[in-house]
Amino acid sequence: MGVERVQEIANFSKETIPEEFIRTTYEQPALTTVQGTVLEVPVIDLSDPDEEKVVRAIVDASSNWGMFQVVNHGIPRETVRKLKEVGKAFFELPPHEKEAYAKSPGSQSIEGYGTKLQREVEGKKAWVDHLFHKIWPPSEINYQFWPKNPPSYRKNNKEYAKHMHGVVNKLFRCLSLGLGLEGNEMKEAMGGDNMVYLLKINYYPQCPRPDLALGVPAHTDMSAITILVPNDVQGLQACKDDHWYDVEYIPNALIVHIGDQVEIVSNGKYKSVLHRAKVNKEKTRISWPVFVEPPSDLEVGPHPKLVNEANPPKFESKKYSQYCFCKLNKTPK
Ligand code: OGA
Ligand code: NI
Repeated sequence: MGVERVQEIANFSKETIPEEFIRTTYEQPALTTVQGTVLEVPVIDLSDPDEEKVVRAIVDASSNWGMFQVVNHGIPRETVRKLKEVGKAFFELPPHEKEAYAKSPGSQSIEGYGTKLQREVEGKKAWVDHLFHKIWPPSEINYQFWPKNPPSYRKNNKEYAKHMHGVVNKLFRCLSLGLGLEGNEMKEAMGGDNMVYLLKINYYPQCPRPDLALGVPAHTDMSAITILVPNDVQGLQACKDDHWYDVEYIPNALIVHIGDQVEIVSNGKYKSVLHRAKVNKEKTRISWPVFVEPPSDLEVGPHPKLVNEANPPKFESKKYSQYCFCKLNKTPK
């Protein structure tokens, strides 16, 4: 039997939503969001020639928030616009065309069109469908999961991947310098040029009860860093000091999340951000995170230069694949 897509459920849910989408009172966004305060995550100008200033800003944001936005990042607006255009067009195709890219139920791989990734507390479901596929390096790309329709889907995604390297290199260089390491050491600890870029499209249909449901429940990303572009519908929330805040979008900015692997390599100096996504009553939200990840067989642990007797390692070293397996299969607490 086929999996029921949230996009289909949304078509017949005009006033209420099925019970499995209703969150407990501990999670319902209407009850747990700090009202009237929009979280002002730091905004960093990557084109600033004063590199020390950029490093300080990134260190501060990564240590205190685990999230920041970057502007003047070098990815052309047109490239981002075209990425979004084709992603939206894919989700607007009739169901059978999307199902051609569906993840097979028993598949080990994360890639493909799908509806639910993680087993959740109390069996709750998230109001979202998604498409996952790798966009870099070329040797890791599995075109089976790249839509052929719309016809420019592939070209536009390749172009986005190509323009990402500049931002990724700059971010890792600053994160590395900020720890007192050489500029290339953080990137090397993540696999250097073998790092994998995994694109996800989150498609959150309109939801009649955005006060009760969540698009994505609270989590930290397993990646090294995540670079996200949203459509114009707000909904991302970050947790700071145990409270949930809306994150304000800045036009043309990229939203950077510190993921678990950067937290680990930095031995806890940088924090992976706890975040979640709300849904909207009138509009479809869409977001395009790219998870920048170590190769699956690379062992990741606190950087040897950052640990000594006074600063013992705070994390175990593990192959990235092992880390993901443990996190995805652990019984949720
Ligand atoms: C994710 C995520 C947030 C958003 O997919 O990991 O956190 O705004 N998405 O869609
Ligand atoms: Ni996330």
